[in-house]
Amino acid sequence: MLNKIALIGGGYIGGVLAQEIVQRGLAREIGLVDPAPLVNSADPVDRQQVARKQSVAKGKCLDIAEGLPTIGRDVRLVGSKDYSAIEGADLVINTAGVPRRARPDGTFPSREELLSVNLKVTSEVAEGIMRNCPDATIISIANPLDAIVYTLYKRLNCPRNKLMGMAGQLDSGRYRYFIADAAKISVENVSALVLGGHGDTMVPVRSSCQIAGIPVSKFLDDATLRAIEDRTRKAGGEIVGLLGFGSAFVSPAWAALEMAEALIHDKRKIVPVCAKLDGEYGVNGLFVGVPAILGKNGVEEIVQLDLTDAEKEAFANSVDDVRKTCDEVDRMMKNP
Ligand code: APR
Repeated sequence: MLNKIALIGGGYIGGVLAQEIVQRGLAREIGLVDPAPLVNSADPVDRQQVARKQSVAKGKCLDIAEGLPTIGRDVRLVGSKDYSAIEGADLVINTAGVPRRARPDGTFPSREELLSVNLKVTSEVAEGIMRNCPDATIISIANPLDAIVYTLYKRLNCPRNKLMGMAGQLDSGRYRYFIADAAKISVENVSALVLGGHGDTMVPVRSSCQIAGIPVSKFLDDATLRAIEDRTRKAGGEIVGLLGFGSAFVSPAWAALEMAEALIHDKRKIVPVCAKLDGEYGVNGLFVGVPAILGKNGVEEIVQLDLTDAEKEAFANSVDDVRKTCDEVDRMMKNP
């Protein structure tokens, strides 16, 4: 159990995280920061006064705290609109920013289109971490995932083992679920990795996909697997299209907690995460989805897979997309 976990952003994912951290007994204290509802200076003064008193973070913390006697958990919950709530945290999980939302015509933006808004939010996140818990290990979930993790790294200049993004575990979970569903076999039997960037060019690695240790091709034909891999790449958008109000929030929270538990319990578990590459997979200085050993020191080692030629090509293509978005980050950071 950690002493304190900080949650930055108390929206849909932040709410599930807080609830699960309490249920799973992962920390003695949770600090939740969220500035919502924002005070709009164009509103009438009385409306501004109401918004000033309201706090999503405080409200969610109090709601959970009042349920603690019922479920028999002793956890301290601190919520605030400023970053004071995260002071002294050992682990930070960052969800601050806007998610993808379906437009009235049913279309929705790409994750990359969230960049300019979420970049500004990420600068505040980095400042808050620097001021309140500079030594914390960080798991970031906000989108566009790889570019936001890169931004945090540029702002915080922290050791690479202490900063990682959550995407691979979620994307692999989607791939594994679709395989299990098509093969009519338990999800517990399906293992697979999705690597590369957390965008439409992510790489479901078929050569890593097995059902009870047996290659997936023994169970499903090529056309079915192709359709599943395509659906996996677009799975985030499928949920955005269905929900209408935002993006997936339960499975991303569970995926981040899979990572958090590997760190907290020093599991040395291999999990696909967005980690900084310094030459591995032929990539330098970018954060990209790869399998990594997670333990008490964070990202302890990056595992290099023997990909097929086609997978190598798809991975390089996905890295190119991550590089383009990170170049955009560099440009925006130079000319804010
Ligand atoms: N600091 C802290 N929190 C912030 C800040 C900030 N500077 N700016 C915005 N937030 C908060 C919002 O007030 C909101 O409550 O971040 C929260 C985000 O929550 P939701 O809008 O419910 O979004 P959620 O579904 O939780 O997704 C969060 O994860 O998967 C990604 O694309 C998704 O980037 C999005 C993030």
